[in-house]
Amino acid sequence: MPQVPQRILAISGSLRRSSINSAVLRAAASAAARDGAMVVIDDSVRGLPHFDPDLEIEPPEPVLRFRAACEEAAGVLLAVPEYTFGIPGSFKNALDWTVGSGSLYRKPITLLDVAAQGRGARVREALDLVLRAHGADVARYSLPVARNDRDAAGEVDSPRVINELRAVVAELAKRSSAAHESSTDR
Ligand SMILES: Cc1cc2nc3c(=O)[nH]c(=O)nc-3n(C[C@H](O)[C@H](O)[C@H](O)COP(=O)(O)O)c2cc1C
Repeated sequence: MPQVPQRILAISGSLRRSSINSAVLRAAASAAARDGAMVVIDDSVRGLPHFDPDLEIEPPEPVLRFRAACEEAAGVLLAVPEYTFGIPGSFKNALDWTVGSGSLYRKPITLLDVAAQGRGARVREALDLVLRAHGADVARYSLPVARNDRDAAGEVDSPRVINELRAVVAELAKRSSAAHESSTDR
């Protein structure tokens, strides 16, 4: 029987139209599709209400959809910029909504770090801490993306970056399969 590819959720921590992080995730999704892997971009971050524990009793619809997308994904690929030495507020807000539901618990996550060398150290540290608090299984991959790795429309067209993205997705898919197998063994 042909194997259905596992779904990997890709979430950008930037809302900017010409975001480097979002462009890299789009490139990862296209490259993965050519390899028969499934990377689905999720842009729920933009539409989530402010986190409020009082709303946990009856979570708003966008929150339920975002939680379900995280829970159903075999793995999660994140690309998050550093804002003022930390995690962008809108993205941290999305993470906060997944605490009560445990949607990222034991989830294989790859943090894709596209910042130039010497940049982004603080958001890496912050994300490591926060995602470990979620109980996620976190790996990090450094892939600096420069202006000349993108075409005039801002899409990533560098063969080097695209090849590395294919390897990142393949590795995450492998970790996701292993996590799935060990959860069905339990
Ligand atoms: C409000 C704001 C704060 C920023 N703070 C930092 C920072 O503390 N450290 C850093 O390395 N870059 C910082 N940057 C630069 C961004 O991380 C960088 O431009 C990144 O590429 C933005 O990601 P995007 O292209 O996906 O939107 C900041 C940018 C903005 C808009």
